[in-house]
Amino acid sequence: MNLKISSVYKDFLSCKNRYAVLYGGAGSGKSYVAAQKIILRTVSEAPHKFLIIRKVARTLRESVFALLKTIIRDLDLEDVFKINETNMSFECLLNGNQIVLSGIDDPEKLKSIVDISGIWIEEATELRENDFDQLDLRLRGETKHYKQIIVTFNPVSAAHWIKRKFFDFTPPDTFVLKTTYLDNPFVGEEYQQVMERLKRDNYDYYKIYALGEWGSLEGIIYPDYETIDKMPEYFEKEYIGMDFGYNHPFAIVHVRIDARNLYVDEIFYQTEVENRSVIEYIKSNHPWVKDIKIYADSARADLISEWKSEGFNIEKANKAVFEGINAVKSFNINITKHSVNILKEIGLYAWKKDKDGNMLDEPVKLNDDAMDAMRYALTPYISKKGSTKSMKIGLL
Ligand SMILES: Nc1ncnc2c1ncn2[C@@H]1O[C@H](COP(=O)(O)OP(=O)(O)O)[C@@H](O)[C@H]1O
Ligand SMILES: [Mg+2]
Repeated sequence: MNLKISSVYKDFLSCKNRYAVLYGGAGSGKSYVAAQKIILRTVSEAPHKFLIIRKVARTLRESVFALLKTIIRDLDLEDVFKINETNMSFECLLNGNQIVLSGIDDPEKLKSIVDISGIWIEEATELRENDFDQLDLRLRGETKHYKQIIVTFNPVSAAHWIKRKFFDFTPPDTFVLKTTYLDNPFVGEEYQQVMERLKRDNYDYYKIYALGEWGSLEGIIYPDYETIDKMPEYFEKEYIGMDFGYNHPFAIVHVRIDARNLYVDEIFYQTEVENRSVIEYIKSNHPWVKDIKIYADSARADLISEWKSEGFNIEKANKAVFEGINAVKSFNINITKHSVNILKEIGLYAWKKDKDGNMLDEPVKLNDDAMDAMRYALTPYISKKGSTKSMKIGLL
């Protein structure tokens, strides 16, 4: 068998503790080794039924399900496993063992999986404490082999229940290992550069995702949002927001509004592209944009005129930043899942801090092009600076 394992995980692979906690920075190989351990136990011990959990089933398909298949292939075990794509499960043909993946968001499926002998909770900070406790209770009773709950996560916030549970009041029989990308011999140089850049751009993020230290996400501007499959067909209002750019991305965002709900969809996001080409691209790929009011970066009247002369209904956006953010925050934010750049930006969009660590009321000017476009789209909801309307929205 062709098994490549980072040496830092040697003790993890052999540990039999009830709780095995792998935490630390991103890209340290936590998910990889958790998957490896489950595959190894599946082929070498029986009987077993492993349950792998993440908050949202859909995200499991793209992450852990794909990873398990990679590892099975790397280990030349393809003949040994029968894979059920629909159910996201594996059966080991040597011994009848099973590995079943389920989201916490699928309670019916979860309930139907019985006689579990091991659990891996991926991105455990996504779960509520009660979700964890329920799973913990499910792993009681007799089994022939040791019963283990593996939890993997990044230490997103020192205020998170997971810190209290495993670090402040560590339960007996717990194995804890902290790792960072520096412990992962398989990580590429490009990744190292991304991590180093994070150090300059947002130190809080660097602390959590590079150093794997308990952080605080207090500075995150939009901590609450949902992802959706597609834009709703029913809505009250819709607008387009446009942030011009050449060296920075040129971002176009479509929003629909229904009562207190805001739905957001990425239409265009690209660097080094001329205004002309974007106009042509929109005309041929999204001709419907002509019927919708566009709010664009008011600093570029020249570019706005070009769109106007092509028949687009375009106006200057209100660029008041704090007021615009408050307007966005007054809605429940829903983002289509294919809007990868919006999702990337929103996760990192944070308030600036002064040198004493006090939060300022302006965002870090980085990775904010789609965030700007989203604000601009809500221009009709943004009040002028200092007006009473802005104070009212600010209190929402
Ligand atoms: N044992 C391994 N063999 C090959 N590649 C690995 C191994 N462990 C980690 N990697 C590589 O490192 C990357 C990061 O590992 P991952 O498990 O996703 O990190 P984490 O879960 O800590 O964020 C993976 O995408 C993979 O390319
Ligand atoms: Mg991971």
